[in-house]
Amino acid sequence: MSTILSVRDLTLRFHTFDGVVHALNGISFDVQAGETLAIVGESGSGKSVTMMSLLHLLPMPPARIARGEALFYTNGTPTDLLKMSRADMHRVRGAQIGYIFQDALSALNPVMTVGRQIGESLVMHLGMDAETARKRAIDLLDDVGIPGARARYRNYPHQFSGGMRQRAMIAIAIACNPRMVIADEPTTALDVTVQAQIVELAKRIQRERGMTVVWITHDLGVVAGIADRVLVMYAGCPVEIAPVDDLYDHPQHPYTRGLLSALPRLDDRSRRDLASIQGAPPDMMASPRHCQFAWRCPYVFDRCWKAVPPYYPAGKGHATQCFYDLENGRPRTDA
Ligand SMILES: Nc1ncnc2c1ncn2[C@@H]1O[C@H](COP(=O)(O)OP(=O)(O)OP(=O)(O)O)[C@@H](O)[C@H]1O
Ligand SMILES: [Mg+2]
Repeated sequence: MSTILSVRDLTLRFHTFDGVVHALNGISFDVQAGETLAIVGESGSGKSVTMMSLLHLLPMPPARIARGEALFYTNGTPTDLLKMSRADMHRVRGAQIGYIFQDALSALNPVMTVGRQIGESLVMHLGMDAETARKRAIDLLDDVGIPGARARYRNYPHQFSGGMRQRAMIAIAIACNPRMVIADEPTTALDVTVQAQIVELAKRIQRERGMTVVWITHDLGVVAGIADRVLVMYAGCPVEIAPVDDLYDHPQHPYTRGLLSALPRLDDRSRRDLASIQGAPPDMMASPRHCQFAWRCPYVFDRCWKAVPPYYPAGKGHATQCFYDLENGRPRTDA
């Protein structure tokens, strides 16, 4: 597998009237071509801003990238997305990297028909004439499972149901056959049956088109069915990254372990209460000087308050940002 995206030390702050929000504190990860990488973490952990900052989708100011690079590879040649000009980024977005937004209703243009919104990027990026783009847009609507696509092409977003709007967003994101698609909680606002349909749709599209997918979610239950690897975020820090099975079988960070024990399991007959993680995420106004999870961690010891942990390898493709060796039940001994 080849690397399609390599993010290093991405550090992002919001300069607000109330002070500086340390939204991302040095995030590094790679995305391999053709894989699905899930980014999980609770609300406010920085999942959306990680991917939005790469595509220049954040308002700057108040957002500011303090450090880092994000190399996007085309035929083995890297380009730093963070340094791209506005015009170059315009060519990448949609054509090379598609984005399915968290909230389809506010991401779609309310005064333009759904069909035209799909057709627009075909005309702009692929240079199609209006009639070809119209036919292609109808095919796309049909492909993402909109019944009566030919008639629906003329509808405005408010005439679509929530599930259909999310399908339309997917059609827009994949219209130009981008190499990578970022799906930002595409199922959050939907009921569980429609959620499952959207997940199946995304999986089918990825299989058929060989796309690389970054799937953002707070739902570890969804991740098991779609991801190859998982990046766990906590308070703007990437606390663990692992192949999906390894993460479920051997979570190496206390936060991941907490998230997993908060998940209901159909095969668990013990009638145990679901565990919750005590406490609340930290205030992000201060730059981290120690492990951000220390306040809530059941394994915390003195070292956790003295420095931000580095990444420790914890198996093949598995790394954790924790001073405590969960697997062996003792502090790590590298100091
Ligand atoms: N425009 C902004 N101004 C100030 N702070 C912001 C802004 N946008 C995001 N943030 C902060 O950045 C942090 C990360 O936000 P982000 O939207 O990435 O969270 P998330 O993990 O996607 O959460 P959710 O699951 O709720 O979507 C949060 O602390 C948020 O308050
Ligand atoms: Mg988000």
